[in-house]
Amino acid sequence: MTSSPSSRSRSKSLAAQSRGPHVVVGVCGGIAAYKACELIRRFTESGHDVRVVPTESALRFVGAATFAALSGNPVTTDVWTDVHEVPHVTLGRRADLIVVAPATADFLARMVIGRSDDLLTATLLTARCPIVIAPAMHTEMWEHPATRANVATLRDRGIVVLDPAVGRLTGADSGIGRLPEPDEIFRVARTVLARGPVTPDLAGRHVVVSAGGTREPLDPVRFLGNRSSGRQGYAIARAALARGAEVTLVSANAALFDPAGAKVVRVATAEEMRDAVIEAAASADAVVMAAAVADFRPAQRATSKVKKTDADPDPVALVRNPDILAEIATDRRRAGQVVVGFAAETDNVLDNGAKKLAAKQCDLMVVNEVGENRTFDAEHNSATILGADGSSTIVPEGSKEDLGHAIWDLVLARLS
Ligand code: CTP
Repeated sequence: MTSSPSSRSRSKSLAAQSRGPHVVVGVCGGIAAYKACELIRRFTESGHDVRVVPTESALRFVGAATFAALSGNPVTTDVWTDVHEVPHVTLGRRADLIVVAPATADFLARMVIGRSDDLLTATLLTARCPIVIAPAMHTEMWEHPATRANVATLRDRGIVVLDPAVGRLTGADSGIGRLPEPDEIFRVARTVLARGPVTPDLAGRHVVVSAGGTREPLDPVRFLGNRSSGRQGYAIARAALARGAEVTLVSANAALFDPAGAKVVRVATAEEMRDAVIEAAASADAVVMAAAVADFRPAQRATSKVKKTDADPDPVALVRNPDILAEIATDRRRAGQVVVGFAAETDNVLDNGAKKLAAKQCDLMVVNEVGENRTFDAEHNSATILGADGSSTIVPEGSKEDLGHAIWDLVLARLS
């Protein structure tokens, strides 16, 4: 039996301060349990009321005191503490969202068969709110038919099960099985909390999203680039993943965590992006070009760093880059493929957007205003989405993921 040593009065005052949604964070016994601390912090700092429910094994990795201090609430693993409050029922009923991170293979199996032999599994049985599960385990365990079947069953029940990330595992080995970054889990959780469990209406669809900004080298250390952070493209990819799509994200120079479950192809230049997008588009139902692609590149690329002691430089001669969007849209790689472009404009925003839609022959053009302090690197965005059919959809200021969902709603209508 485990309960936190934290002072009740402090817990109450912290919990009372937070009037936000009630989130239960379940933590299982895996090495990635330490990353749950960062996730809990994200929730509490953004005003959520967090109850941490670890398994007994999780407490072998991280102590109850840490979870109690970070959440400002008592921490219990079993159903025998504070029995008068019937915690296994009240926690589940009160929760607006349950997130389990990390979830082990054993935990997935226990959840599938409906075990309720600790507080976490009991809470999951009584809860009727959305549930997000972030598994982490060794590659062999993730790929085992038993785990595959368990994940499929949980997804069938409407539970959001994230794919683990690919990378270094506990030992020297690497592969699929890493816990997605806490920031990534937090974003998915926040979207599920805002929208409820998302209908997997893009299941069975392959979509390609480009993101970031291309860099065109002048020499080995300098380039012509732009201010795109990649956030909008990543948010579009995340929205598609939440709706069940298979996502290829062609990413140019974005310093962001990989969205859980996406196939990420990293590129640097416009020409590399063209090759990657064209290849992925061959099997895609939809292509969204959210990347800021450089229209020109230096005609010459010095093989050594240009020194200031070199002769006074000539003006940099530029040559035109391929227009990837126009190429994809005019020569569809797949019948019925929906092609979406972005028009980032500083002036005459809607007029220029409409001209771009016609010139590039895509199905949808997401038109937004950009400038020094607008859109780039921001968390929010607003846009008007123009359709080749004459439609115009205003998406009010909201998260970049909200804009992503608005795009997928329109894409889906054109796919079916
Ligand atoms: N785009 C592209 N290839 C390029 C340039 C742009 O695929 N070489 C795509 C972008 O990803 C975006 C759309 O075209 O979806 C519009 O990009 P934008 O930079 O707004 O327009 P440009 O065509 O470059 O026109 P301009 O810079 O003159 O506004």
